[in-house]
Amino acid sequence: MKAEEQNNQDSGWDSRALQADPHVDPDKASRVQAMFGQIAARYDLNNRIHSLGRDQAWRKRAVKMAAVSPGDHVLDVACGTGDLTEAFAGSGAAVVKGIDFTPEMLELAKVKATRRKRPSGVPKPVYEQGDAMALAVPDESFDIVSIAFGIRNVTNPAKAIGEFHRVLRPGGRLVILEFCQPRFAPMRLFNGFYCKRIMPMTASLIARDRSGAYRYLPRSVETFSEPDQLAQMMTDSGFGHISQIRMTMGICAVSAGIKTPS
Ligand SMILES: C[S@@+](CC[C@H](N)C(=O)[O-])C[C@H]1O[C@@H](n2cnc3c(N)ncnc32)[C@H](O)[C@@H]1O
Repeated sequence: MKAEEQNNQDSGWDSRALQADPHVDPDKASRVQAMFGQIAARYDLNNRIHSLGRDQAWRKRAVKMAAVSPGDHVLDVACGTGDLTEAFAGSGAAVVKGIDFTPEMLELAKVKATRRKRPSGVPKPVYEQGDAMALAVPDESFDIVSIAFGIRNVTNPAKAIGEFHRVLRPGGRLVILEFCQPRFAPMRLFNGFYCKRIMPMTASLIARDRSGAYRYLPRSVETFSEPDQLAQMMTDSGFGHISQIRMTMGICAVSAGIKTPS
């Protein structure tokens, strides 16, 4: 491999890689990992600013769709800096674990978990490095598996959903929060303009990013499965009772399903 190619792959996404479909890029995993490593420090700030303060409300809605019961064990995959993991920790769950494959994101999640003051009885999340497609977790050991803005970044989403099914107890719930394309044409146009023309400039500036993360973001959304295709993947893996809600004029959706007892 030429030195220039190696460098591109180590540092994220260049224009050439983004011209094609990023989901079939043979180096998707290493590019994604390098990219999150570079933007980790300003990831939360960029989320708040560029979602216009909505991102935590989306996560809260995902937690609500998970219908947590007291004593539940929750696994938050692709947990990043831990915002959804923390939302589950405050929801009545007994055990909350976050897994991600980017050390820089996990490090921030751990710092946040240590700094956060919790009422007694609210568990502190535990974090581990790991791969969504090969979870180092026993079969049928969790009541809820969640993944927020992560399934699109995984190399093989169907394989990851199969893993989520394996680690859930029968009757356990899977909750997926992910961006999608608004169905209302004017909103779709406006969102496309914002995500492709404005956000990449401002977010890259804030993160001092040179990995192409914020050009990969809209490109990876427009080339990724829409909610109905995601629902089909869940059904194919053995989930039933699929429900979906779109939020904020259809720019993202929560998909939830239950592992039907076999
Ligand atoms: C957009 S961030 C989402 C973080 C967090 N869930 C949130 O709500 O902000 C996507 C995360 O997916 C992680 N990721 C991507 N592919 C992964 C994989 N195969 N296994 C584990 N984590 C992965 C990245 O490291 C990154 O932290």
